[in-house]
Amino acid sequence: MKNEGILLWEKAKKIIPGGNQLLSKRTERFLPGLWPSYYKKAKGCEVWDLDGNKYYDFAGMGVGSCILGYADEDVDKAVINAINLGSMSTLNSYEEVELSQKLLSLHPWAEMVRFSRTGGEACAIAVRIAKADSGRDRVAFCGYHGWHDWYLSSNLADTNNLDGQLLPGLEPRGVPRFLKNTALPFNYNKIEELEKIVKDYPGEIGVIIMEPRRGQGPKDGFLEKVRAIADRIGAVLIFDEVTSGFRINLGGIHLTMGVNPDMAVFGKALGNGYAISAIIGKKNVMDNAQTSFISSTFWTERIGFAAALASLNKMEKENAQKKMIEYGELISKGRERIANNYGIQVSTGGIPSFNYFSFNYKNALAIQTYYIQEMLRKGFLLDMSIATSLAYSEETINKFLAATEVVFKELKKLIENNSVESKLENEIRHSGFKRLTE
Ligand SMILES: Cc1ncc(COP(=O)(O)O)c(C=O)c1O
Repeated sequence: MKNEGILLWEKAKKIIPGGNQLLSKRTERFLPGLWPSYYKKAKGCEVWDLDGNKYYDFAGMGVGSCILGYADEDVDKAVINAINLGSMSTLNSYEEVELSQKLLSLHPWAEMVRFSRTGGEACAIAVRIAKADSGRDRVAFCGYHGWHDWYLSSNLADTNNLDGQLLPGLEPRGVPRFLKNTALPFNYNKIEELEKIVKDYPGEIGVIIMEPRRGQGPKDGFLEKVRAIADRIGAVLIFDEVTSGFRINLGGIHLTMGVNPDMAVFGKALGNGYAISAIIGKKNVMDNAQTSFISSTFWTERIGFAAALASLNKMEKENAQKKMIEYGELISKGRERIANNYGIQVSTGGIPSFNYFSFNYKNALAIQTYYIQEMLRKGFLLDMSIATSLAYSEETINKFLAATEVVFKELKKLIENNSVESKLENEIRHSGFKRLTE
């Protein structure tokens, strides 16, 4: 019998293109035909599906947004207070100024702040401001920066341009063809690729936007070299901290890396699941927001500011990042040890509080599907990257590792017998964007 979530997902796909609003939450990305898909309740690191089953979330904790845990009482109290006092009005929310001050105190190099609601939107705003500042139209980028035209246009030149940048196979249909070659990708730690872009378009690159760190860390002074290129050519350097921000330290991860950008963008964890994103930057660059029309009704709404202030205060009080790193290390080291014990070939990577795990086999996707399927049965939502949360505990992690041990013991035999696929109850999980859109 199909679970309630799957039944609803099948209905949803008929009336909502793609089934939902976010690729990363699509059922087929996890466990086609079996994933619970919808939740009734989420609290701490636990999630209840439509059938009332309870799971521990080791699948990203709300796409990396809930580092304090789901339905955090302190954040919710601030939000409820904001609602009770009126979340919208003709006048501005004073919390907007308080949150600006807080973000600037955490990032002393920055002098001004703008806000929006989502990560992709904040990146688009930052790129617009940076283009206005530099007066140039071309952007060099490294990493994933959302769904907007400026970014997707990269694939107009070569449909593989965004391969290696997180989401392979993204098709730029509907993106104006004349944006071709306005967004030019370079890979992390490949400074020669950025140099080539600069050489190919002399005097035309006005913006360099990149994630300061995602999987691997910088090598051979990569960030310093990017900074030097930006200064040399007069481009605005933007660090996209939508995912990396607040995961290792209170603020942008760049604060731990010794290189400051001209602007930085935050989202995800800033409001612990409430919609809020921020763009911070140097005054001379940020002032350009005034010369380019950037304005929206719901960027003024109170809930996001209240949630972000409460989240930052709690992260600081609880030393959240230190605990998240500890939890991440317990998970990745523990799981690697179990894999090694059973002779299963794996790789791990990323930052501890947002760590990646992969199986080094040709049929890795089938193996992942088996792991997700078996962990679901044992009460865990699982993905190959785990964003840790303050809501985890050593006890929960030990339960996770114990369940993994049982699965890996069986998996070892299945790999040896070449029979992983025979144990799958449904299709193999889909990987890239291409499969998902078919
Ligand atoms: C680095 C980075 N930038 C931008 C985005 C887009 O953020 P959103 O999904 O909130 O639009 C993401 C989302 O995963 C991201 O990781």
